[in-house]
Amino acid sequence: MRLSAFLFNTAKIEYYSRFSPSPLSIKQFLEFGRDNACEKTSYMFLRKELPVRLANTMREVNLLPDKLLSQPSVRLVQKWYMQSFLELLEYENRSPDNPHALNDFLEVLIEIRNRHNDVVPTMAQGVIEYKEKFGFDPFVSSNIQYFLDRFYTNRISFRMLINQHTLLFGNDTNPAHPKHIGSIDPACNVADVVNDAYEMAKMLCEQYYPNAPALKITEFNAKAPDKPIQAVYVPSHLFHMLFELFKNAMRATVEHNEENKDDLPPIKAKVTLGKEDLSIKISDRGGGVPLRKIDRLFNYTYSTAPTPSLNSKRVPLAGFGHGLPISRLYARYFQGDLQLYSMEGVGTDAVIYLKALSSESFERLPVFNKSAWRHYQGGPGADDWSNPSKEPRDASKYKAKR
Ligand SMILES: Nc1ncnc2c1ncn2[C@@H]1O[C@H](COP(=O)(O)OP(=O)(O)OP(=O)(O)O)[C@@H](O)[C@H]1O
Ligand SMILES: [Mg+2]
Repeated sequence: MRLSAFLFNTAKIEYYSRFSPSPLSIKQFLEFGRDNACEKTSYMFLRKELPVRLANTMREVNLLPDKLLSQPSVRLVQKWYMQSFLELLEYENRSPDNPHALNDFLEVLIEIRNRHNDVVPTMAQGVIEYKEKFGFDPFVSSNIQYFLDRFYTNRISFRMLINQHTLLFGNDTNPAHPKHIGSIDPACNVADVVNDAYEMAKMLCEQYYPNAPALKITEFNAKAPDKPIQAVYVPSHLFHMLFELFKNAMRATVEHNEENKDDLPPIKAKVTLGKEDLSIKISDRGGGVPLRKIDRLFNYTYSTAPTPSLNSKRVPLAGFGHGLPISRLYARYFQGDLQLYSMEGVGTDAVIYLKALSSESFERLPVFNKSAWRHYQGGPGADDWSNPSKEPRDASKYKAKR
């Protein structure tokens, strides 16, 4: 790249990263899409908002350790981001009234979406390469965790914006779901998505094991008793989270009940709706996880399954260690959460929390600022809690004199 082009690009990234992203709520997405959505308005919003979101995350990528940045897969990801950023800048000063502007923009968005399809496995590959070559110290490990959570959230949000635009104004509207507004279902039947995700995971489970546990669903609608529970939500996000939880629950159940293969304890799903929360609990009898390890399950490189081959034609049931951390990002993206409660020896409850009201489901977006920057600086602090001593304590000096 010529020096002048490099300086121009750096200045542009710096410029756009000074703006904070503008989070939207599901309600806003819905209202915009419902009331005769205006393509020009969407164009004007996205041609600024998308570069802002890209630039915020690109600045943060640059704070990663040099040895990680120099891994070929990480460089490739950086190249994709730069290319997409520059393509969007083409529209910086192009009026939406220009002939072809709207159409060209739509096509560029689709290209960008496709270019970024493999960002997660490519980035994961970079992290694995780095870990194999240099190992991880706790400081680097917590920085990478912090970074990936923010980087992947940014990606989820970026795709959400692109999908809304292309679904509303492009030709890829979904004839199977005429009531959907872009990717949002205004009346998403939660138990149906639970069922679909279970069936999909079951099919996969049966490719690896002789059988899969059954499913029992119950609903408790505290707001409108006896009415089915509906959410205003992105069904594909909900499906993603549930599918990951079912795969985990099935693997644990089958592995833990080897002697009882023909009578596996069922997985229970409970869907509940209150004033504030819509919660979905997936409970298994798969032996659970000790409390000491629970936090670790959300690390991007933690898995107890063998690493699946990237070239294998079969979809893996487990093994990348991305299932839980990415599902939690989806839940948190619209102000929900995903938590695990386990009782070792028995089983695990995984709970997805969503906001019951679409007006409260605002995008939760990372912002590049001083406090984010500080996260990547300095070393790990000294532990400020006591550690159990390894030496046996000599208690004789505390003996009371009689
Ligand atoms: N319900 C569960 N019961 C017991 N262990 C679990 C359960 N859910 C997750 N785990 C443990 O947590 C680890 C991490 O889960 P996670 O879904 O993040 O990754 P994975 O299943 O190993 O791989 P993948 O990325 O394919 O999902 C699993 O390898 C497993 O050891
Ligand atoms: Mg998993």
